[in-house]
Amino acid sequence: MRFFQAVLATLLASASISPSHAGSISFPRSHDVSQGHKVSLKGFIISMFTPEATIWHSILDFNLLAHNISLPGLSPLFPTIHCTPTHEVCQIVTGKGEINAAVTISALLFSTHFNLTRTYFLIAGIAGISPEHGTTGSVTLPRFAVQPALQHEIDIRELPGNFSTGYIPQGSTRPGTFPKTVYGTEVFELDARLVDIAAGFARNASLADSEAARRYRTNYMTADGRYHAATQSPGIVQCDTSTSDVYFAGHILTSTFANTTKGLTGGRGVYCTSQQEDNATLEALLRGAKAGLVDFRRIIIMRSGSDFDRPFPGQSALEGLLYSDHGGFAIALENLYLAGWEIIKAILKGWDEAFRDGLGERGYVGDVWGTLNGGTALDFGASMDDGREAIIAKRSILEV
Ligand SMILES: *[C@@H]1O[C@H](CO)[C@@H](O)[C@H](O)[C@H]1NC(C)=O
Ligand SMILES: *[C@@H]1O[C@H](CO)[C@@H](O)[C@H](O)[C@H]1NC(C)=O
Ligand SMILES: *[C@@H]1O[C@H](CO)[C@@H](O)[C@H](O)[C@H]1NC(C)=O
Ligand SMILES: *[C@@H]1O[C@H](CO)[C@@H](O)[C@H](O)[C@H]1NC(C)=O
Ligand SMILES: *[C@@H]1O[C@H](CO)[C@@H](O)[C@H](O)[C@H]1NC(C)=O
Ligand SMILES: *[C@@H]1O[C@H](CO)[C@@H](O)[C@H](O)[C@H]1NC(C)=O
Repeated sequence: MRFFQAVLATLLASASISPSHAGSISFPRSHDVSQGHKVSLKGFIISMFTPEATIWHSILDFNLLAHNISLPGLSPLFPTIHCTPTHEVCQIVTGKGEINAAVTISALLFSTHFNLTRTYFLIAGIAGISPEHGTTGSVTLPRFAVQPALQHEIDIRELPGNFSTGYIPQGSTRPGTFPKTVYGTEVFELDARLVDIAAGFARNASLADSEAARRYRTNYMTADGRYHAATQSPGIVQCDTSTSDVYFAGHILTSTFANTTKGLTGGRGVYCTSQQEDNATLEALLRGAKAGLVDFRRIIIMRSGSDFDRPFPGQSALEGLLYSDHGGFAIALENLYLAGWEIIKAILKGWDEAFRDGLGERGYVGDVWGTLNGGTALDFGASMDDGREAIIAKRSILEV
């Protein structure tokens, strides 16, 4: 999660956010539980902290608080999973940051309490957003998730003047090269077809906006239209996300990490949001998929813009990060639920015809090592220089 001020977060969590109630959907009674079978879920919402979780808790006919299930290994702050009366849809709250996300999701998958082989996962959180691609309140659906801070870093003040950034890919000597050392979590690719379909459903939502957000956005109007996207009303945007425990901001780091995103995805990834969990969640899901416990083709990420990742023209990076209210926090939360509910509703409605058996094996999904397909069909690399070879070489080294 990323948010403007902890104080604001706490206030909003306890008070004013109450999503409008959704249209009614009838959920059949579950027999899984009563017959002693493992609970087989259709949808799992993954939230990261309290405001992202509670935004889902007042939907009529979708009572997520009907069952609370404790599992060992969950976050001490969020020790229970919430489920609807029929156990068709559940929600887990990971806790903030990469470590909490990875450990929580691992605990869920390897508890084997649920049967998750056909479950659609909706990772739904707020994020910093690039004014080049979206605005506060916009809901983004990435295909690629990148971990850009997994690099060497030297403070730029200690580097010679010909360096444009202090980040240098591991095993390399210059920025802008493909890393020679790959940990495997640098980049994940989701099922592009599912992402497109989910974005279509999300576009059915009427997204919320606020006066404060509208006012702040006008700061991004420029003569050259560089930040045109930032000046628009919230929308559904398909662009990619970055995971970093470091809550970064400003022109240099966002440019560095946009370049890293592009480089790690064979030139196709377009960085637009920054958050602190998704690659960790995806790595846990990847290991679950490798173990046959989940289907990596059934993952959707939604990240809505709660604040801009860089200052507006004339504003300092420090001012933009620490001393200005971008007005986007409340609408980012509300729009997560508004867009996400359209996705969940549509998956439940179309379950038998379209979703139960999955969308089919088309296009690459998985990590940078090809873990889910025996490493035979890597979809990354070769964009910066010798990326593909570096990955293959590195993997073969690791395998001996
Ligand atoms: C589940 O926990 C929530 C608080 O997180 C509570 O409001 C709700 O009543 C609980 N549900 C049940 C069935 O105990
Ligand atoms: C999980 O559900 C799938 C699909 O319904 C089924 O084929 C499989 O046997 C179930 N696995 C377990 C361990 O219950
Ligand atoms: C995170 O996931 C994204 C997309 O799946 C991927 O591009 C990125 O390299 C990953 N980054 C890290 C640090 O794991
Ligand atoms: C900066 O210049 C030094 C000395 O010419 C060179 O070794 C280094 O590779 C350059 N770094 C970059 C990022 O261009
Ligand atoms: C939402 O959008 C999709 C197209 O992406 C459409 O098929 C569907 O009927 C729309 N309406 C609802 C209520 O899902
Ligand atoms: C990102 O890449 C562009 C194009 O190669 C380059 O001009 C820019 O300096 C890079 N950004 C950083 C911070 O290195």
